[in-house]
Amino acid sequence: MPSFFVDGNIAAAKTIDTDFYIQQKFYDEAKEKIFAPSWQFIGDAGNIKDPGDAYPFTLLNNYVNEPLLLTKNKQNAIHCLSNVCTHRGNLVVYQSCKLNQLKCRYHGRLFSLEGKFISMPEFKEVENFPTKDDDLHQLPLFKWGNLLFTSLKEQYEPGDFLGEMMQRIEWFPVNDLQFHDELSKDYYVEANWALYCENYLEGFHIPFVHAGLNQVLDFGEYSTEVFRYSNLQLGIGKKGDVCFKLPANSYDHGKEVAAYYFWVFPNMMFNFYPWGLSVNIVEPLEVGKCRVRFLTYISDENKLEKGAGSGLNEVELEDEEVVQNVQKGIRSRFYKYGRYSVKREQGTHHFHSLIAEFMQ
Ligand code: FES
Ligand SMILES: [Fe+2]
Repeated sequence: MPSFFVDGNIAAAKTIDTDFYIQQKFYDEAKEKIFAPSWQFIGDAGNIKDPGDAYPFTLLNNYVNEPLLLTKNKQNAIHCLSNVCTHRGNLVVYQSCKLNQLKCRYHGRLFSLEGKFISMPEFKEVENFPTKDDDLHQLPLFKWGNLLFTSLKEQYEPGDFLGEMMQRIEWFPVNDLQFHDELSKDYYVEANWALYCENYLEGFHIPFVHAGLNQVLDFGEYSTEVFRYSNLQLGIGKKGDVCFKLPANSYDHGKEVAAYYFWVFPNMMFNFYPWGLSVNIVEPLEVGKCRVRFLTYISDENKLEKGAGSGLNEVELEDEEVVQNVQKGIRSRFYKYGRYSVKREQGTHHFHSLIAEFMQ
């Protein structure tokens, strides 16, 4: 049985045991050990614009499968609730709608928009009722600009996962980001979710796999910074490329930053370009399959399709091809583990180390 040990010293370390990407048992274990305690992106506040709006969704459909509900109450406060009725488990809200209260369609149990139990027919004789357990379970909700996050377990603060990113680009107009459905897309990849992530986590392959991207990024200047549960790859543009105009007091002032590639454990990528943000969420579907959602948020339309933030579809297809071939390769009886480039694979080493830590 693999112990998923990854040496903290990257120069001495071996890559994580390939069983992690192949065995059903570890795929299943990762649900509780990796995904349940982490913070997850749950869309943006545009889904619940007005008081009374209710928006049901399934967190990581086909994997974690948790039915959740976002509501906006009369005071404009957003709540993230379990969408499961506390009577016999029916889903409370079936589709996006506007409501004054939440009423379960099965036997009429009534809840407030904050998830508080209000009333229930035919329950007069029931003893010790209602209690707190009859309220809809409330989950923690974190809002950054219009981006919403929750966590199934109250184990970590949102800042533990998102803090470094928020701090590093606190000058970025996150409140101006507008979601564009027509520019968003889902990709289905025949590879384990972690293989997709670890490919994202190194720029090492850019000159080999992404000819187009390589023309706009300065590979020599490309760098990775590792934080506790997230990391950053800083894409420096070649001379004359579209780059951020960084304010004088910002951390990276003086650098020609073409892209901030933030990755947040375990499955979220926040790619900031001068035109806005491309969020990539990697959703496990099966041991050897995942769906990657590319969600496009624009803050400055004029800079679209320029610099490192252009041609993202082409870059994605190039990544998919190589990642799908890796999924085939790691099944080999002859491949046991690899080693890391100390300079170019810190992000991948960081990811493997976190998997090993969470799978303990
Ligand atoms: S399951 Fe909701 S009222 Fe019975
Ligand atoms: Fe890539």
